[in-house]
Amino acid sequence: MTLLNKELELAHEIVEDSNPTNNTDFQTVINRRLNRRSILKGGTGLTAAAFFGALPLVGCSDDDDNISSPIVEDDNDAAIPAQGDLKRPETLKFKAVAHSTAETMTVAEGYKAEMILPLGTPLMPGLADWKDNREQSAESFEWRMGDNHDGMWFFGKKDNAYDAKGSENGLLVMNHEYVNSEELSPFGYYVIEDKDAAPLFQRRRLASDIRREVNCHGVAVVEMKRRANGMGYEMVPNSKYNRRITSSTTSQLAGPVAGSDLVKTKFDPTGFQTRGINNNCGAGLSPWGTYLTTEENFLGVFARGQDASQLSASDNYGRERYGAPENSPGSRYLWHTPDAKDATIMDEFSRWDMTAVGANATEDYRNGFNTFGYITEIDPFDQNSTPQKRTAMGRFAHENCAYAPVKQGKPVVFYMGDDARGEYIYKFVSKAMWSNADIGGGLKAGDKYLNDGTLYVAIFNEDGSGEWKALVQGQNGLDAFNSALPFNSQDEVLVYARAAGDAAGATKMDRPEWVSVSPMTGDVYVTLTNNKYRGVRDDQPLSAANPRSYQVNGKPSGNDNGHIIRWAETGGDHAATSFEWDIYLFGAPSDLSAENLSQLSASNDLSSPDGLYFDPRGVLWIQTDDGAYTDTTSCMLLAALPGKVSDGTTITTSAGQQSRIGMPASNDNIKRFFVGPEGCEVTGITMAPDFKTLFINIQHPGNTWGAVAGGSTPRSATVMITKEDGDVILAESFESAASPA
Ligand code: FEO
Ligand code: CA
Ligand code: CA
Ligand code: CA
Repeated sequence: MTLLNKELELAHEIVEDSNPTNNTDFQTVINRRLNRRSILKGGTGLTAAAFFGALPLVGCSDDDDNISSPIVEDDNDAAIPAQGDLKRPETLKFKAVAHSTAETMTVAEGYKAEMILPLGTPLMPGLADWKDNREQSAESFEWRMGDNHDGMWFFGKKDNAYDAKGSENGLLVMNHEYVNSEELSPFGYYVIEDKDAAPLFQRRRLASDIRREVNCHGVAVVEMKRRANGMGYEMVPNSKYNRRITSSTTSQLAGPVAGSDLVKTKFDPTGFQTRGINNNCGAGLSPWGTYLTTEENFLGVFARGQDASQLSASDNYGRERYGAPENSPGSRYLWHTPDAKDATIMDEFSRWDMTAVGANATEDYRNGFNTFGYITEIDPFDQNSTPQKRTAMGRFAHENCAYAPVKQGKPVVFYMGDDARGEYIYKFVSKAMWSNADIGGGLKAGDKYLNDGTLYVAIFNEDGSGEWKALVQGQNGLDAFNSALPFNSQDEVLVYARAAGDAAGATKMDRPEWVSVSPMTGDVYVTLTNNKYRGVRDDQPLSAANPRSYQVNGKPSGNDNGHIIRWAETGGDHAATSFEWDIYLFGAPSDLSAENLSQLSASNDLSSPDGLYFDPRGVLWIQTDDGAYTDTTSCMLLAALPGKVSDGTTITTSAGQQSRIGMPASNDNIKRFFVGPEGCEVTGITMAPDFKTLFINIQHPGNTWGAVAGGSTPRSATVMITKEDGDVILAESFESAASPA
């Protein structure tokens, strides 16, 4: 089973490496010149000793450096999804959870972890429960929990509307990222082989299996109410809010790309609609109370045949830059392959075939591919609303979307990562200025803030400074003279945002996953999960921001364990175009001394950080999606109390690369809180506003975790964590008594 899951994980992780540019090389040349003189100055003019001196971190009592409470501006408090006391513990006092490879999950002592809402759970009354023989119809999954639960958010609800402070009742909204085909169909992963068929159709799948898989992707909205005993929540089975949005739900293209020639298809020759949202990975909340889902590895559900001669040079380059060169039969999904005589039914499947076969784009699905890869906004409080693909935020393999604390009269800023090896970090700055009056404004507020604004891409200089380059046609080399892909209009810049990032000289990162903004300091944190090519392949050389490359078992493995980078925007202004960065934490097994740069111990060592979430009190929760350290421990959730950018020192990695690192880990400031069952990834995280319930998700568990009683099919599910005494999560860490050993 573990092997099977590993294969599935690999199929899901079709992490691309389609970035052909040498941006880091270019950066390295320029920045090395600046390096010697400025790395020691850190941009502040202080001496190295003063700048990198051992600043106290947690519980610092210096008023100027006080980071014991989140920065809360009274006039914007309404947008903070919290009803409790906004104070951060000074040290973590729960007993760290040990490494584990058990079939079961483990949570810190004093806490209770319960599995809820597993794959197949009916979301309306009258539908039979999931059966271990997987006999449920494909169509029934339009009303069941989907597979591989991922990013999520708990929306407080009061009087049928969003209430950021509401904890009695809420809508739990979550992503279903992909499917474990073998464990979903009654037939397993069933493929019909025909070597005489056309190249894209030599391996065909069953229509019912495809339909089930399409329906098991997307988003679930589930109404939850507090249990009668006051501990945790239960689903409201007959709620009018319960619904599924799947990879076949009609969705709107909104913003600058809507109506563009690049998104016109046979389904909508006007280019305003598409069918489905796909591979929804990390998630985010908007400050006005809607759900921001993401489209990550959408590449995997498309096939492309021989059609380069039918397409422009730009269109060909754009497809290749997103991992879809000519003659790509697609991954194991093969959603385009079921055969049907009825044209309507055939269209349901052929839309996943992006080959240009018609006379023009409105006669085929060559542009179907361009209608995926967006931050998509959903209003969970309006069950009849259409998901809005917010094209102004760029098209790439979106991981999550995190907003910076909002301020009245200032733009709203969102941070985003593109999870593929050597891809970029982005931010979006709205044109409209924030107003608290928009809280609860649903998709209309989304139209206001997300359809017009500026997309930027990040450059991390070697000296610890950084720059944001605007991805605006006519600026930063994004014009008709750009050699790889001429940019004639803004829709091209956004659809081919990766190519725009190339032209702007963005820094190639080690797979940017989740982003979260510290409510304590305003610093922005991004997990860089790992990158086996860093320092191994010529197009991904070392850089200060991606400074590790090492061997594992005698084999060059690049950055095998990942790291977490962070930055502070200049002047604390999230709309600024420059910043200062360092590396908050390096993942590593604690006994891998040459790479354990953050001085992790057995109670907090981790590998491949992925999920990341600052709760409103300023506690940073870190989740892992690992394959490197899993012989020792399964994936996990840790709690951390980070300091701030530049609270550490400079280092030289084992690969000889100089960089900047934050203060070391200790058992007070980072601890393992939970370990998942063997074979799983721990991902997705949200808290009820009263801080008494923490929700996380378990993807693709091994063995029989999540199976029905007596069954053998493991299932992805949500885990609900409460404190046994009913207090807030981490209550023990606020107590003044001595911490346990
Ligand atoms: Fe879906 Fe990058 O994790
Ligand atoms: Ca992830
Ligand atoms: Ca991952
Ligand atoms: Ca995964």
